[in-house]
Amino acid sequence: MRTKELRIFVYEYTTVWELPEADQQLVLAAREAAKNAYAPYSGFFVGASLRLADGSIVSGNNQENAAYPTGLCAERVALFYAHANHPDLPVRAIAVTASNKNGIVDGPVSPCGSCRQALIESEVRYKSPIRIILDGRKKVQVFEDTGNLLPFAFRPESLD
Ligand code: THU
Repeated sequence: MRTKELRIFVYEYTTVWELPEADQQLVLAAREAAKNAYAPYSGFFVGASLRLADGSIVSGNNQENAAYPTGLCAERVALFYAHANHPDLPVRAIAVTASNKNGIVDGPVSPCGSCRQALIESEVRYKSPIRIILDGRKKVQVFEDTGNLLPFAFRPESLD
């Protein structure tokens, strides 16, 4: 038996205004995107914005359905849109935000397991880390890549 200790780095900020300019821009884009979420069942409006390798920003938001599992999270809407329309551009960063009836949540928003898995796949596909910025009114977290958010992920080599 062997015990392993993992080191996970997360950078925490009190407000979005302490972030580097490019990250601030991405969070603001995500906040705009959240306004167009279709979330009549949860009332939880999520926005996700990606910065692509050419500097452009693409966004998504959660799309719910009366048959609940049919809905999709903002992060995967944004990621799949980016990969469908810009297959040659790696994703460099993602910002995620969420609002409910009280406004932006205290946060930071924590992406679900499936979205973390989808982010890992994108990193693997483009051999390029994705910076992850999780917005919140009281706390903002930044991760340098998805490995810090989803250790022990299922990866292509897991299929061997
Ligand atoms: N949701 C997201 O879009 N992203 C997350 O990171 C967490 C959850 C959505 C799914 C559902 O529409 C609503 O938020 C409540 O779970």
